[in-house]
Amino acid sequence: MSKLPNGFLWGGAVAAHQFEGGWNKGGKGLSIADVMTAGSNTQAREITDGLVPGKNYPNHEAIDFYDHFHEDVQLFADLGLKCFRTSIAWTRIFPNGDENEPNEAGLKFYDDLFDDLLAHGIEPVITLSHFEMPYHLVKEYGGWRNREMIRFFVKFARVVLERYRNKVKYWMTFNEINNQTGLNEWGLFTNSGIKITADEDAEKLMYQAAHYETVASALVVKMGHEINPEFKIGCMMAMGPTYPATPAPQDVMKAERTMQAGYWLADIQCKGKYPNWLKRYFERHHFALDITEADLNILAVGTVDYIGFSYYASHVTKTTDNEPDDYMTPGQNPEVKNPALERSDWGWEIDPVGLRYALNWFSDRYDLPLFIVENGLGAFDEKDADGKIHDDYRIDYLRKHIEQMELAVDVDGVQLMGYTPWGFIDLVSAGTGQMDKRYGLIYVDKNDAGVGTLKREKKLSFDWFKKVIATNGADL
Ligand code: BG6
Repeated sequence: MSKLPNGFLWGGAVAAHQFEGGWNKGGKGLSIADVMTAGSNTQAREITDGLVPGKNYPNHEAIDFYDHFHEDVQLFADLGLKCFRTSIAWTRIFPNGDENEPNEAGLKFYDDLFDDLLAHGIEPVITLSHFEMPYHLVKEYGGWRNREMIRFFVKFARVVLERYRNKVKYWMTFNEINNQTGLNEWGLFTNSGIKITADEDAEKLMYQAAHYETVASALVVKMGHEINPEFKIGCMMAMGPTYPATPAPQDVMKAERTMQAGYWLADIQCKGKYPNWLKRYFERHHFALDITEADLNILAVGTVDYIGFSYYASHVTKTTDNEPDDYMTPGQNPEVKNPALERSDWGWEIDPVGLRYALNWFSDRYDLPLFIVENGLGAFDEKDADGKIHDDYRIDYLRKHIEQMELAVDVDGVQLMGYTPWGFIDLVSAGTGQMDKRYGLIYVDKNDAGVGTLKREKKLSFDWFKKVIATNGADL
């Protein structure tokens, strides 16, 4: 018997820039994803200054969903999806981001896609900003350094929330908004369109950019509810719980502070206010951020309806010598290997119980419905002699995570809306720009060099997940 509620949203998740391709079709503008080259497990993606001839930009074509969407949606329906999570590429709607009028061809593309999904009984779940803001806004305005971004984002959101008010019910504002708290180049650029210059303080800038994003998010939540009171609008967090390396109290405290430092953006979006420890931190560090009373009032009224989150792995941290008393600076928590867990080929800890832990942690802290909008295993897939990919390792990963998810619902009483495995159709990795880091239940014939027929084929995990959906998670 199923342990999950009726109407549970089984689905699959992708993001526009990682699978649509068609980077310059239908009037689309250049996005930040379009200036990121292919990297690898060991080599970071390069963020080029505009387009540089001869470089490999994997998101330009991706898996060309733009020209394959009718047949792909057919496959999604065959899988039995109840929902489909994607993002609306901002640059299809406002190619540069600062135009007055939207691009009708871009709006029509999503009308056609949503109509197709709905005709197959698949509910769209839409992220408004998933690592793909207009590159023009980076060059002209400095990305989310600039308060003007709030206006541009709200304008974009208003257009799509109004246009699709009767087609889309589930929305999220900023994908994995908390990635940037790690202060690395990739997180700051993909979240906020920020490349740090030598004279800038990355930490201060991150707090400023993230503040503007939370204000924009709150304005959009409020506006969305006015456009359609039925809308469910969530935040979207990257969740990777951090455990202490030992039972030593200072390690436990450090793990707790690492969690606080990773999830204050959820505090703001769910509780409508900054946590006290962070307000004190701002004061002590004399950041003098541009945070107005009006902003704080907006944050208080624009809280989200649910928490969407990704879950791939957990982390372990340990105190260092000379650990500061007041605050462990973001990025200063080098990860310690967890001896209890195995890692994926990309070194990500595989920790199904961590998903139950995460669900309980969010639920206790915010008392809001939750939605697992990303989870999955990035792996190298090889075809067997019969020409099929027998990805038992992926089935094993998904099964163990779904088991823990069901315990969280059934035993712990967590309110869970749905589960959408990430990259259920192979796509371009956001972190590495690779195609060969595959998450899919559907194989797409294309490799890291960009070579392939783009043909779609079902992996073994396709049939398995189809059965899981059909039994509402009873038959794993
Ligand atoms: C999340 C993102 O970071 O994890 C996705 O929301 C991303 O865009 C996914 O693709 C998996 O990460 P990666 O680096 O393996 O693609």
